[in-house]
This record gives sequence, structure tokens and C-alpha cells, in this order.
Amino acid sequence: MTSKTLTAPPVALGTWAWGDSGQVGDGYFGSELTASGLREVVEKAQANGFTLWDTAAVYGMGHSETVLAQALKGFARGEYQLSTKFTPQLAGDGDDPVADMLERSLDRLGTDHVDLYWIHNPADVARWTPRLIPLLRSGRIKHVGVSNHDLKEIALADQILGEAGFRVEAVQNHFSLLYRSSERAGILDHCREHDVRFFSYMVLEQGVLTGRYGPDHPLPEGSSRAAAYNGILPQLRTLTDRMRAIGEDRGASAADVATAWAIAKGTTPIIGVTKAGYVDGLVRACGIELSGEEIAELEALADAADVDTRGSWEHAM
Ligand SMILES: NC(=O)c1ccc[n+]([C@@H]2O[C@H](COP(=O)([O-])OP(=O)(O)OC[C@H]3O[C@@H](n4cnc5c(N)ncnc54)[C@H](OP(=O)(O)O)[C@@H]3O)[C@@H](O)[C@H]2O)c1
Repeated sequence: MTSKTLTAPPVALGTWAWGDSGQVGDGYFGSELTASGLREVVEKAQANGFTLWDTAAVYGMGHSETVLAQALKGFARGEYQLSTKFTPQLAGDGDDPVADMLERSLDRLGTDHVDLYWIHNPADVARWTPRLIPLLRSGRIKHVGVSNHDLKEIALADQILGEAGFRVEAVQNHFSLLYRSSERAGILDHCREHDVRFFSYMVLEQGVLTGRYGPDHPLPEGSSRAAAYNGILPQLRTLTDRMRAIGEDRGASAADVATAWAIAKGTTPIIGVTKAGYVDGLVRACGIELSGEEIAELEALADAADVDTRGSWEHAM
């Protein structure tokens, strides 16, 4: 059995963008990132109690993990929690590709354990899930979650772990105002009923739900997120304007409203932070209480935008 139940701050921090080279327009996000800027993000986040860092071996093929470890240097291991992932598509051909991928992550992260280890997607649940059991027993991983899994896949993973006295303790799926398939498919209810923490990713839809980007100021040219989102920016204007107005009443931004919405839905958002200033937004978001009417209005405006932001790696829920 896992010795302690999983605990987490109200918001976790995502570092997918940290896997990019840091040059404008380059990579998935195309944001300008520097080691000193990311160190500032870490210091500010840690000081404000945001101590759970989500990464994956596949983000920049190890680069995100390496950069995160550098930025966390000097903090004691007990002061932060690490969340990283096994991506089936990267499995090697050794005897135990899960253990091998974890060892490489531990190496890059400069640690002997991860607090939360994920199967990144349900490529083959019956094949990969059992591989987590010896890693839980040895303490190399403390808690287990599944990502991009639908209800049936979550149940299968839970059954496999359950036979060894463990369980799926967390689910990590795409969940934003624009993409609510996990709610419609009953995954949020399932998690609530079974005491499984639901981590919502892409709550800001990679920046387009912050109001910072629009047809006149699109996502960085050449980046993958520009290719995914720039075409739908005109359809999001009414929603982001309303989010901005709701935020203004509380001295907050549209991004803060998006994060507050995800918290109000009972989820733990994983927000991709790229600037220290964004941490102030997380502090504000944790203090915002949206009314039922505001939530309903925002969801109606999101539905009216009529966009499909499902990631290329996701299957329908
Ligand atoms: N399990 C999975 O399959 C999966 C898939 C996707 C993501 N994830 C995880 O979830 C995390 C979050 O997703 P994401 O990073 O893709 O997207 P996201 O959190 O929806 O958006 C992140 C982007 O929004 C902008 N931003 C962040 N905070 C802001 C603020 N307060 N105000 C204005 N803009 C802000 C930044 O863009 P600029 O730099 O342009 O300002 C940042 O790169 C990832 O980092 C990763 O850890 C997991």
C-alpha cells in the first residue's frame, strides 16, 4: 500500500514549455525563456506554496526535466514535489521500459524518487500499468496517476493496481472552459466519488484563454501552438472579453478567471507558468469565488464559440 495519501497544493505548475529551446517562435510554445527567468518562476512559486511541478520525459525529450532540476537547485527535496510521466510511445526495447524511462527521469531530475508518476496515455493499459507495481514497492514512485484515460481505461488501471494493494490516485486530463469532455463523460464525478484527484491540464488553452492573444496579436509564429490555435482566435473574443470583465471586478485577469473556474469545478489545475508574474495570478485565482451564474454564463459563451481544441494526442472521452 502507498504509505501516505496524495496531497497537493490547489494549483500545480506545468513545465511543458520549459522543454523548448527558449528561442522566440521555436518549438511547441515558441516563448522566450531563460534559465534566470525560470529560476525566478520557481522562487516565487515556492514562496507562495505552489510546490508541485509537473513535467514529462517527452517534453523537449528530457530538456524540461533537466531545466526544472536546475531551476529547483538549492531547495531541499522535501520542499517540492515532482510529477513526471512514462510515455508509451517512447518505450525502449529493454526488459522493463517503464523502469528504464523512470531511471532516466530520476537522473535528469537529480533525485531518487518522484512523488507522482503517470502513464501518459492509454496506449496499452494492460501492458504498462502492472510495471508500476514494483516501482511503488521500491519507493521510486510514491503515487500513481493516469493521463488521457477514459472511464473504462481508468477502471482497468485501477483494477490492475488494486490486485497489488495500490490504486489510481490521480487522473490528468485536458479540461478547460473550451474542452469539458471529462465532465460530460462522467470522469469528474467518478473522481469525486472515489477520492481520486483530478488534475486539469491546458486550463488556459496554451495561452488563448488569457485574452493576451487575439487576431491582432497571435501566438508566436512558427510554434506548434500557433498552428493549433491562431485560426480560432476570432471566435474566442466574446468569451475572453467576458472573462476579462469578470476578472476586473476582482482586480484579476482573464487567466485568473480561467484558473478559478477550474478550481470551482473541483479540479486541481496544472498551469503552464513561463513568467514569475504569472504566479501572482495563481495567488489571486485561489481567492476568487465565481458564482453559479458566472460559471453558467462562461460555459454558455464557451459553447457558443463552437471550437474543438482536442489535442492531436487525445482520443475522445
Ligand atoms: N498529460 C498530458 O497529456 C498533458 C498535455 C498538455 C499539458 N500537460 C501539462 O499541463 C501543463 C499546462 O498545460 P500547457 O502548459 O500546455 O498550457 P496552459 O497551462 O493552458 O497555458 C500555458 C501558457 O499560458 C500562458 N500563461 C500562463 N499563465 C498565464 C497568466 N497568468 N497570464 C497570461 N498568460 C499565462 C503562457 O504563455 P506565454 O508564455 O505565451 O505567456 C503559457 O505558456 C503543461 O505544462 C504540462 O505540464 C499535460
